[in-house]
Amino acid sequence: MTATSSGTDQLLRPHAEQAYATELARLATVDDRPRPTNWKLSPWAVVTYLVGGTLPDGFEVSTKYVGNRRLIEVAVATLATDRALLLLGVPGTAKSWVSEHLAAAISGDSTLLVQGTAGTPEEAVRYGWNYARLLAEGPSTAALVASPIMTAMAEGRIARLEELTRIPSDVQDALITVLSEKTLPIPELNTEVQAERGFNLIATANDRDRGVNELSSALRRRFNTVVLPLPDSYEDEVRIVAGRVADLGRSLELPPADRAADEIRRVVTIFRELRSGVTTDGRTSLKSPSGTLSTAEAISVITNGIALATHFGDGTLRAADVAAGIVGSVVKDPVADQVVWKEYLEAVVRQRPDWKDFYRASREVSG
Ligand SMILES: Nc1ncnc2c1ncn2[C@@H]1O[C@H](COP(=O)(O)OP(=O)(O)OP(=O)(O)O)[C@@H](O)[C@H]1O
Ligand SMILES: [Mg+2]
Repeated sequence: MTATSSGTDQLLRPHAEQAYATELARLATVDDRPRPTNWKLSPWAVVTYLVGGTLPDGFEVSTKYVGNRRLIEVAVATLATDRALLLLGVPGTAKSWVSEHLAAAISGDSTLLVQGTAGTPEEAVRYGWNYARLLAEGPSTAALVASPIMTAMAEGRIARLEELTRIPSDVQDALITVLSEKTLPIPELNTEVQAERGFNLIATANDRDRGVNELSSALRRRFNTVVLPLPDSYEDEVRIVAGRVADLGRSLELPPADRAADEIRRVVTIFRELRSGVTTDGRTSLKSPSGTLSTAEAISVITNGIALATHFGDGTLRAADVAAGIVGSVVKDPVADQVVWKEYLEAVVRQRPDWKDFYRASREVSG
């Protein structure tokens, strides 16, 4: 279906279960702990896949989620119960990333996905019809178009629902029966789909733009919520950015840029200082800009910088390649954020002797 003649290396973005097929297979061979019905791995192995570790045979499992192991344990334990999992957090805290890897590790399939938007119809949560067949034959199983959630129920797999709070409330409510009765009635055929063991749902929601469509309390009660925080420490955040930049660089066919590590440290420093409203040395307090300055944005600032350095520079990532990206992330509101950025530039950046290159480059882009 998705595989090409040359396998997955031609794909711009392979699914987690494709990209990490070797790790998943190695984990499955050493995993001798009990697996819930229809789970490909035991809960212990799923957590190891997410947080990384060394297997008894010496094989290294890479770290997908950098952060508190306990959060991942709670998430995995939840999925082994009859309650669904809600991953909540500010933008760019790896909610979608964790959801994809959990589904890949538990069901071997992260593709049973519903993307929540203001226009998500009920069919995306329940089922729709192939209208040509429906008109020709009337309602029949063959004319039914199952939603990813219906498929997950029938096959005992994990379904994913992105951006739950963007979905209109009446459509959200269609989930209540699914989650509490574990069944999806199909009145047109006078039948129902009952969930197999192994079925569960991982939803993600952003607590920044929560206001869109609040979760009803009836629905909220059916979820265990795990809040994914911004990275605790500077070192963790540098590690996340460096790791993802290396992965993305490979799939975008960008060569590893020289000196990327220095620019990564600088971007993370700037983002953390502006987010927390104080410089690293604790001496200068700062105003915070309106944007989130998420880890995800730091990753894209560096990746864009590497593309600039590769295609228009000499392959060395320099301040000038990241300056425009940083200013773009910080200045979301052209008036208020511009003031915040100018102050930071003069009061902090200018005072750091080894940041002269960056000060000059930023002055050029912010005018
Ligand atoms: N703690 C973390 N560990 C590993 N990767 C992280 C972490 N935090 C952020 N990332 C990286 O940040 C990127 C963005 O994550 P993701 O898209 O999952 O964010 P999100 O929480 O779903 O954001 P949004 O609310 O905008 O949808 C991913 O590439 C992910 O690897
Ligand atoms: Mg997301």
